[in-house]
Amino acid sequence: MKSLMIQGAKIIATGSAIPSSSFSNHEMSEVVNTSDEWIFTRTGIKERRLLQGNDQSVVDLAVLASKKALNQVAMDPCQIDLIILATSSPHDLFGSASKVQSQIGAFNAVAFDLTAACSGFVLSLVTASQFLQTGVYRNILVVGADALSKWVDWSDRSTCILFGDAAGAAILQSCSFTHNAILSFQLNTDGNYSKYLSMAYEQDISPHPKLNIYQGYFKYISMNGKEVYKFAVFQVPLSILKCLNSLNMSVEEIDWLVLHQANYRILTAIAEKLSISKNKIISNLHKYGNTSAASIPLVLDEAIQNKKISHNDIVAIAGFGAGLTWGTIIVRW
Ligand code: ACO
Repeated sequence: MKSLMIQGAKIIATGSAIPSSSFSNHEMSEVVNTSDEWIFTRTGIKERRLLQGNDQSVVDLAVLASKKALNQVAMDPCQIDLIILATSSPHDLFGSASKVQSQIGAFNAVAFDLTAACSGFVLSLVTASQFLQTGVYRNILVVGADALSKWVDWSDRSTCILFGDAAGAAILQSCSFTHNAILSFQLNTDGNYSKYLSMAYEQDISPHPKLNIYQGYFKYISMNGKEVYKFAVFQVPLSILKCLNSLNMSVEEIDWLVLHQANYRILTAIAEKLSISKNKIISNLHKYGNTSAASIPLVLDEAIQNKKISHNDIVAIAGFGAGLTWGTIIVRW
């Protein structure tokens, strides 16, 4: 791949937002036939946050996470040139990024949604870094936000126990070539396996009475958990290795693994395959479950607030999910 990089890009701030209502495994066992023991041992999840009631949407979470990131660096929202909202559960199928733009007052920013399920934040970071490294824009807000509680089948115990709602944001800024922090990326898609994880469009069985047009609706999340599990554990380590190879870096140089928070067993299996110590895995999925596009910025923000990640640390960020899509970014913090 030929790089047209003329300047660098770095992450200068992060922020995150979660709904106020937590929902424990015990409470889940009152909705479907499951138990805290089953959920915790199979996934590592103890509780998740859900948008309950009528008053908050995925856009509200995205706005709050964005404002926190802006406040962290006291940035005027009018300095943002581009907003990319990674979401697969927008409030409007035409896109929700423009609502984030107006609600945070980023009136100079172009805004669009990017749909790539749990890989959405990684793909959005890479997209943003391209605009920065080619000198097109200076400040970009990348938000990962999902409310999959709106899209799970609450009678399907194999999926509804996994997901939570959240948003996370990062502000990327261009910088001199020598200070570039987004060192490399590696992205993949394999549509042959899209059937393993989908929120598919379902067509009505009969057309409009006067037109030969079939309309329809979107179905709940459907997932083949075992296949997704095998795919993640096989492909993600390869992606991380390819990304490191492109930089002539070794696995030992990774200080932190920030993976999509799908299932703690997946995270440890990936670390084991790479011979990376479990202590380098950053995880908070026991508190939030799988928050799809929000999971990486949510855990990243927490690690930064807790001062776990320090200046110059090498962070391997990898996302994976529906598509199937997966990819890695190596960042020097
Ligand atoms: N509570 C109790 N029992 C359950 C539950 C539950 N919530 N769910 C399933 N079971 C039962 C099944 O019915 C099955 O029973 P059986 O043996 O009598 O048939 C048994 O438990 C085992 O079920 P499996 O599906 O084989 O369980 P598995 O060990 O594979 O764990 C899980 C399921 C946790 C979903 C796992 O496959 C997984 O984590 N897969 C990856 C999911 C993932 O990461 N998705 C990413 C989504 S990213 C995105 O893009 C949105």
